[in-house]
Amino acid sequence: MIELKNVSVFYPKAKDPALKNINLAFKSGEFICVLGPSGAGKSTMIRTINALQPVTEGQVIIDGKDLAALPELKRREWRSRTGMIFQHFHLIPRLTVEQNILTGLFGKKKAFTTFAGVFSQEEKVKAKEILYHVGLEQMADRRVEWLSGGQKQRVGVARALMQEPEVFLGDEPVASLDPGTARSIFQLLSGVHDQNNLTTIINVHDVTLAKAFATRVIGLSHGEVIFDGSPEELDPMNLETIYGKALQA
Ligand SMILES: Nc1ncnc2c1ncn2[C@@H]1O[C@H](COP(=O)(O)OP(=O)(O)O)[C@@H](O)[C@H]1O
Ligand SMILES: [Mg+2]
Repeated sequence: MIELKNVSVFYPKAKDPALKNINLAFKSGEFICVLGPSGAGKSTMIRTINALQPVTEGQVIIDGKDLAALPELKRREWRSRTGMIFQHFHLIPRLTVEQNILTGLFGKKKAFTTFAGVFSQEEKVKAKEILYHVGLEQMADRRVEWLSGGQKQRVGVARALMQEPEVFLGDEPVASLDPGTARSIFQLLSGVHDQNNLTTIINVHDVTLAKAFATRVIGLSHGEVIFDGSPEELDPMNLETIYGKALQA
């Protein structure tokens, strides 16, 4: 269980907090989509959860333990339990699909050396299985730079899966993709989520996707939670509260 208790984040020199007294709890099995206009605090919230962004006030509590109070090693351990996918993929373009997927294991390894000899046969077999699962079994040896956006994000998902994560975090993972491809990535995420009973928290721009896939929607505006409910409850009035005038633009 992930809990945010009275969490506020103030960036240095910023006039207003990026997050203002957030109180939320996320359980396994929940597929949460976070909506909100640009600047609402979505990325900041995701980063507090995987301990990339320290909180200024309040606590992020993982399975009863305050993340900030843990030794750095434990915080890193937590980070390796969270699979993260990004809008711009954050892959290594000149490496192959398979090599990129195997980098998902670096969080669990002691040191970064070279690829040769670092990964066990078992790990390579697992990478192949995951490749198959995300539909890239033909692409193992292809350099990532040659792939389409949708294929790159499949590699992103596969790399996260390699970590055997308990939590999937996505910071607008489909914002650079066309609507059909975006949907297919959400289908993949949703399948993986159900299969592994993950906690999935995804920042998303597209309300239709949130409605189609989320079990719970959070609306952020100016660093505050202004909606927390089921996708069915997300009516036009709520959407206007979340997005304000931006929705009509
Ligand atoms: N590193 C930073 N330093 C200063 N201000 C930041 C930084 N990152 C984000 N902000 C500010 O914090 C607020 C929330 O940003 P962010 O979490 O990126 O929102 P979103 O992901 O919803 O667009 C914005 O006002 C943004 O300008
Ligand atoms: Mg953002």
